[in-house]
Amino acid sequence: MNATGVRIAGVGHHVPKGVLTNADLERMLDTSDEWITTRTGMKERHIATVEEPTSEIALGAARQAIASAGIEAKDLNCIIVATVTPDYPFPATACILGAKLNVPGVPAFDIEIACSGFIYGLTVASSLVRTGVFKRVLLVGAEELSRIINYDDRSTAVLFGDGAGAVVLEASETDSFLSSELGADGTDPKNLYVEVGGTALPPICAADIEGKRNKVVMNGREVFRFAVTKMIEATNVALEHAGLTAKDVTWLIPHQANRRIIDAAAKHLDLPSDRVIVNIDRYGNTSAASIPIALSETVASGKLKDGDVVLFVGFGGGLSWGAVAWRWNGTVKASMNGKVGG
Ligand code: ACO
Repeated sequence: MNATGVRIAGVGHHVPKGVLTNADLERMLDTSDEWITTRTGMKERHIATVEEPTSEIALGAARQAIASAGIEAKDLNCIIVATVTPDYPFPATACILGAKLNVPGVPAFDIEIACSGFIYGLTVASSLVRTGVFKRVLLVGAEELSRIINYDDRSTAVLFGDGAGAVVLEASETDSFLSSELGADGTDPKNLYVEVGGTALPPICAADIEGKRNKVVMNGREVFRFAVTKMIEATNVALEHAGLTAKDVTWLIPHQANRRIIDAAAKHLDLPSDRVIVNIDRYGNTSAASIPIALSETVASGKLKDGDVVLFVGFGGGLSWGAVAWRWNGTVKASMNGKVGG
């Protein structure tokens, strides 16, 4: 195999048109705009209709990333979708996306590691390119958490939104991939999980649906503590592997789960807020889509410059976590500048 470098050649994102604001949530639940804003930083999130499965919003993001890379879908050698909200339990949503892109035959698979999906996907896709297995890989983080949220549970209902973000990775003479640090600990999966619908328990029945046991359950305080600790640890280890320190980071692009988690981690890393990308106010937590959406918006804003060090960091169900250090290649152009619903 020919070892080569990898670069991000294209970026894109797509969110459904429907918006759920804090004011809407105030009408649905015993909550307030003030509580949601101060405790999470969220103001609104996008919600897909039943006619828009995950593959459909993934398609919107994928088309943008493909256009941004200046290629056509037929130039892709592999499609990866990171999601916990697939179109079907199987087959993989990536296979359906490949069909929607009209490239049957291109290898396609999903990665299911919750909100860490993009970080894991970036590591896997980069490895496939750097070892010469594939020249171009489309990686999409696409989620419709709204389908698995219990809207009677105020502690989770306010947090999540739907959306998709995508990158095209391609072989390159220079190498953007600097390092990766991944981790997982399934000792207590119940801190963040959906209880029924898998094989651990008897097949899902009407009583499960009635009791909302097919929806997300989260131990918020425990996940908060874990998130801050692991974001700091993973960032430091990834930087150390790359021979860098936090001072070298031009942009921190973190998973958008809670503004307070991001602020606490950035403060500990001594990263000023103007180097931390936050869009949580407009999207909420879009799980595996949050980092590529934030990246796509950052490219569209023109902030990213050739040679910048970007540190992607995330965490989520598993529990799982990870960070990737990346040297930006400045030739990437945003496509459609993040038009919603485009
Ligand atoms: N509106 C008003 N009050 C609320 C709400 C709400 N939406 N939600 C909870 N409360 C109340 C609680 O009932 C509690 O009331 P009590 O003191 O009378 O019992 C009070 O607010 C404080 O509750 P806490 O859970 O301590 O609130 P906290 O400040 O920890 O914020 C939150 C809760 C936002 C969930 C926070 O813990 C958090 O962000 N945790 C991490 C979530 C996360 O990162 N998830 C990642 C998911 S990634 C994936 O893989 C899907």
